[in-house]
Amino acid sequence: MSATEVIRIDAGGWGLSWAADEEGRLHQLGLGVEGHDVSVDVAPRWYPSTFPTLDGTDPFRPPPLQITHADGTLSTRLALRAVERDTIDGGEHVVVRTGDELTGLAVEHHARTHSASGVLEQWVEVHHDESGPVTLLAYDSIAPFLLVADDAEVCHFGGSGWADEWRWSTDPLVIGTTVLGNLGGIQPHLQRSPCLLVSPDGPSSDDAGTVIGLSVCWGGNAHFSLDVRPTAEPAAPRELRLRAGANPLGAPYRLEPGVRFVTPSVAWTWSTAGRDRVTASFHDWARARILRDPDERRMIVANNWEATFFDFDEARITGLIDGAADIGAEVFLLDDGWFGTELPRDDDTQGLGDWEPDERKLPGGLGPLVDAATDAGIRFGIWVEPEMVNPRSVLHRTHPEWVVRDRRDPREHRNQLLLDPLRAQVRDFEVDVVTQTLARAPGTSYVKWDANRPVTDPGSATLPADRQANLWVDLVHATWDVMARATAAHPDVEMMLCASGGGRVDFGTLRWFHEFWTSDNTDPVARVRMQWACSHFFPASTMAAHVTRWGGRPLDFASAVALSGRFGLDVDLDALTDAEREVLRRAVTVARRTQDVVQSGSVHRYVSPVEGPDRSRAAWSVGGIGGRTILFAYQLEHSSTPPPLLVLRGLRAGAACRVTTFDLTGDGCDVVETLDVAQLAEGLPWPLSEPLTARVWEIAELDAGDDR
Ligand code: DGJ
Repeated sequence: MSATEVIRIDAGGWGLSWAADEEGRLHQLGLGVEGHDVSVDVAPRWYPSTFPTLDGTDPFRPPPLQITHADGTLSTRLALRAVERDTIDGGEHVVVRTGDELTGLAVEHHARTHSASGVLEQWVEVHHDESGPVTLLAYDSIAPFLLVADDAEVCHFGGSGWADEWRWSTDPLVIGTTVLGNLGGIQPHLQRSPCLLVSPDGPSSDDAGTVIGLSVCWGGNAHFSLDVRPTAEPAAPRELRLRAGANPLGAPYRLEPGVRFVTPSVAWTWSTAGRDRVTASFHDWARARILRDPDERRMIVANNWEATFFDFDEARITGLIDGAADIGAEVFLLDDGWFGTELPRDDDTQGLGDWEPDERKLPGGLGPLVDAATDAGIRFGIWVEPEMVNPRSVLHRTHPEWVVRDRRDPREHRNQLLLDPLRAQVRDFEVDVVTQTLARAPGTSYVKWDANRPVTDPGSATLPADRQANLWVDLVHATWDVMARATAAHPDVEMMLCASGGGRVDFGTLRWFHEFWTSDNTDPVARVRMQWACSHFFPASTMAAHVTRWGGRPLDFASAVALSGRFGLDVDLDALTDAEREVLRRAVTVARRTQDVVQSGSVHRYVSPVEGPDRSRAAWSVGGIGGRTILFAYQLEHSSTPPPLLVLRGLRAGAACRVTTFDLTGDGCDVVETLDVAQLAEGLPWPLSEPLTARVWEIAELDAGDDR
């Protein structure tokens, strides 16, 4: 390629351009809305480096790729070798091949476009034929360079850990390096989601401003590193180098000659119309590229976990199954505690790993429960945690060597240890846990796959001493291999991804699952804020939301919150008053009626529960399916500001609408009125004043089609 030939990647409404300098080193010419359409006006070497590698182009910032070569050389100097382009699934797959002449190391930049959604996936592949292994000390997937305003902002999502997922923070992009990362290996997203929103031009809103949305598609430790420097430019006074990918902290990777190291894909998009556009892009891309069965309505799940915990028997479960069917649920999910014969799983201290049904609790095994569900006209689902073992188990007694550990006695978390999936036998065992469990309960069509501890005392007997740290990366690939095999063997089984709650919510792992358990925190007040944040990236069809008793909130309010996700229930159905049963029946009816829109529609947000001086209210709508929109409003706490008007977006101009206000109390009637869009566009008055109240409307455009 000539020095002025530009590599253009058009991501659909935005993109990027790279060009090589006279030595072949890649530079970033353009990025953003017109970024794929720039030409070279000065020599490429004057543009920022695309991917610094201690090659002299950007010596003052941490490099996205840092490698110690087999002979001890610390620098890597990559020159462009070739560019290949393929059309695939209506988009492009661009491979930019570079190589280091001195060491023989090859680095490929991969980009996959999906122009319909505007999401670009990028990752890097490294391989070499050096005289021995090289060590990768940093291995990011992208490292774009931007000029940003001095009031540029970043929104990130993370709290204190368990039951505090998706806590929203908006912070200024401060000078220096900010690392937003997670650790823990198995359930890193309990602390911090691998998703980020950057507003490079200053504060953005739901429907205005430039926003870059990013998501690291990785089931292990991930990070975003934001390196901000001042410049003399008055219009764009700061430089940002944004690195994103797997978190290399404590995880230097030793790579053998001839082996390919593939970084996680980072999916990202660029909106000039605020955050709702980022949401639309991620949802459309996820439906096209990631989600399993994206066009199927997700079933209404009734779970027994918060109703019984470990304390149940066959009669109690069959009673709950009947109760679930009675209120209209479609799947009954039997959670933890059904297994362990010699060391029964009566609490979390023992039995994990011993996957035979506990004969004391379930003398007939799982079969009678599947039969009870079938007789009641609903499906049966079951909980497993295939990757884990209690030291007090037959499995651990038989295979004490199967766990992840170093030379120390491994520390227990939740009284359990992690099985080492780098062992082929362990991978086979884990696949078998799913297969055997389904075989013990023929007809089961839903599985909740849980994982309840992080990696500690990292180490694997399968790895030599000088590459124990490879565990952090290899563990993810080995676990994905297990998930791929287990789900391929049972393609008709619906899968829920869980890790102590939302510890594994990433687009990489989601490929094998239909949905995830968003958080163990089901207090509806907390859940409104979590679901608000999570839904910026993940569609409601994936975001499991159950009505529970957590927080002691009114059941109609809890129901209204669950209705905005993948609706389900986890309450003791035997302990309901008649009035409560009516509330749940009503919620199930509304869920059935609204699910197609909620799970697949376009999201518009109006009142934020996580930003601004008053976070006591929330409102958003999901719409565009068959001309229908579902609008949610929540009063979470007492308000300190005047009530807002709800000025709806996404409705077709000129249409007349049938507006149904759902009664969720179970003792009233829905209110139906006809309004025209102009009336709605003037704004609906805020309908709530008391904390812990909610309103759910359906707005149906009369004579409308599906215009999503
Ligand atoms: C953690 C999950 O998040 C819960 O929903 C439940 O399945 C428990 N594990 C069971 O041990």
